[in-house]
Amino acid sequence: MKNNKYKSLIVSYKDGKHESTCIVNKFRELEAGEVLVRTKYSSLNYKDALSVTGTSKIIRKNNLTPGLDFSGIVEETSSKKFSIGEKVFASGSGLGELVDGGFSEYIYIKSDKLLKMPKNLNLLSTMQLGTAGFTAAIAIEKMILNKQNKILGPILISGAAGGVGSISLSILKSLGYETIALTRKKSSTSYLKSIGADHVMYTNIISNSKFLNKKVIGGAIDNIGGDTLDWIIKSTNDGGNVVSVGMASNSELNTTVFPFIMRGVNVLGVSSTNYTGDRRKIWRKLSTKYKPKNLKKINTKIIDMKNIINLSKKIVSGKNKGRVIIKFS
Ligand SMILES: NC(=O)c1ccc[n+]([C@@H]2O[C@H](COP(=O)([O-])OP(=O)(O)OC[C@H]3O[C@@H](n4cnc5c(N)ncnc54)[C@H](OP(=O)(O)O)[C@@H]3O)[C@@H](O)[C@H]2O)c1
Repeated sequence: MKNNKYKSLIVSYKDGKHESTCIVNKFRELEAGEVLVRTKYSSLNYKDALSVTGTSKIIRKNNLTPGLDFSGIVEETSSKKFSIGEKVFASGSGLGELVDGGFSEYIYIKSDKLLKMPKNLNLLSTMQLGTAGFTAAIAIEKMILNKQNKILGPILISGAAGGVGSISLSILKSLGYETIALTRKKSSTSYLKSIGADHVMYTNIISNSKFLNKKVIGGAIDNIGGDTLDWIIKSTNDGGNVVSVGMASNSELNTTVFPFIMRGVNVLGVSSTNYTGDRRKIWRKLSTKYKPKNLKKINTKIIDMKNIINLSKKIVSGKNKGRVIIKFS
């Protein structure tokens, strides 16, 4: 039986001042269509780190628990879709932004946000993939639907040592694409090669003085934004797809229209939070065709709740590598 109380991390703003604290909650009655889940794992995404450190105001409601995703076991349910003891998970859908997210020992969640565990995945692997894996899978799916051809050249992944970058690299490699990892750090080279990079490039060699660059890549998944994204678009082969996923370096993009009107380069967007397609379909792919072969290598750290704030500071300062999993007892 559950205890009387449970712990959560909350982010709040008082007189404009940000604070992240651990609080103790009391259990309550379920609302209609709600499920109470005992959390087993969550993951620490870049957006969570921004939220926890107050670097950006990610929460849209005061006193909210961050955590874009979690997996766990149904403790109580007022929805017939789920049963007590069932293994479940959730990712995106406003968690940690509009409604309380995964950094909590227990979570009250509307059943329409909750997903059943796909075959071939478990409580840990759904969080090793988490929002990063879901986002990587949407990006790859979009490229493939938009006819990303292997003969156009290698796919470049920027912010490659991060969560989205690492999982994208791994999936693309196992789908048979040639891959280039773009990273800031020479020290990440052997890690990136071990998870699927055929080639490794370093961001410090990028310069953007031209209208168009040599066509050295077939397409890209960009986690960085700014000048890097400009360089990527200008270096993409005819008809290639560039997916803009993140802005770890810069949220602005100054470029020219030449890559679009002379090479037919496509820029595609991804929103894991506001994804309009079928989430279950993407997760089915992540559990089969897109399942990364080396998830264990990508998941570099398992921490507990009390380390979330410190690890968030590390992520925001760009010092982390791979995925961070939070384990609850
Ligand atoms: N669109 C969506 O739905 C969606 C979903 C998830 C994440 N995102 C966004 O995608 C990005 C990556 O997310 P993530 O969870 O993979 O984050 P992450 O694990 O922290 O990885 C970010 C990576 O970007 C690189 N980086 C960090 N700071 C940088 C800087 N100042 N300049 C250049 N490169 C920098 C680093 O890679 P290297 O060490 O290899 O250089 C870092 O590992 C974030 O901006 C995140 O907000 C978007």
